[in-house]
Amino acid sequence: MLVNAKDMLIKAAAEGYAVGQFNINNLEWTKAVLTTAQELDAPVILGVSEGAGKYMCGYKTVAAMSKAMADSLGIAVPVALHLDHGSYDACLKCVEAGFTSIMFDGSHLPLDENIEKTAALVKLCAERGLSLEAEVGSIGGEEDGVVGMGEVADPDECRRIAELGVTMLAAGIGNIHGKYPANWKGLDFGALDNIHKATGSVPLVLHGGTGIPQDMIRKAISLGVAKINVNTECQLSFQAATRAYIEAGKDLQGKGFDPRKLLAPGTEAIKATVREKIGLFGSAGKA
Ligand code: 13P
Repeated sequence: MLVNAKDMLIKAAAEGYAVGQFNINNLEWTKAVLTTAQELDAPVILGVSEGAGKYMCGYKTVAAMSKAMADSLGIAVPVALHLDHGSYDACLKCVEAGFTSIMFDGSHLPLDENIEKTAALVKLCAERGLSLEAEVGSIGGEEDGVVGMGEVADPDECRRIAELGVTMLAAGIGNIHGKYPANWKGLDFGALDNIHKATGSVPLVLHGGTGIPQDMIRKAISLGVAKINVNTECQLSFQAATRAYIEAGKDLQGKGFDPRKLLAPGTEAIKATVREKIGLFGSAGKA
């Protein structure tokens, strides 16, 4: 059964660890995340971007696949199915499709519009029993080969969004999606501290969990971060393992193309990444 992310995040914030959100792209990805969370007895969040949702034939397909898979694999740890960086329309679609959690990313909108749309979704999620993540201050990343530095969110804006009753809040603190550039200044812990103080007990979300070193992860958790998102690192490990398999000519040894064999090394590599991150975030044994 899939659950919303509220209870797992409240427990994480109270006990000083973070729940991992791992983005999924297909059946193998989903299976790798679910089985590893079960193996480590860790709560987990399946993240679905709008693009991945389209690729997997729409949110209804993703919801049906995730629910059926968790059931047939006998997954007993809490699992939330969460829309990652959704537009307002995508949020509505995921609510209807049976997601248990959504992220409305209104960070690029004027603050009043972000507040208005987030407030409407707070109401809808409360009625339907979903958890809701909001965002203030954009998270940097690569676009057209240029790596933008993460914007630092304003604590007062964070307070205004938190007070709407969101389950969790993603606040930019210099974090970036994807690989961090060599001249990255690191997370802005002064800003995180101010945001944590301004938002009270609302669990904070750290995006861009791929390249953040262990000491920064631990410090962020001590300052209110209870959910950390990982995407790129799973993609990179999948890519490296698949490439090694093909370059060794192992894909040519069977009768023909067999996805069960070709995708197996990459799937194992995703599992290893998820295992490492769950260890780093401290959520093993916390289900
Ligand atoms: P990375 O791709 O840097 O791991 O970030 C993932 C993320 O924050 C998804 O929202």
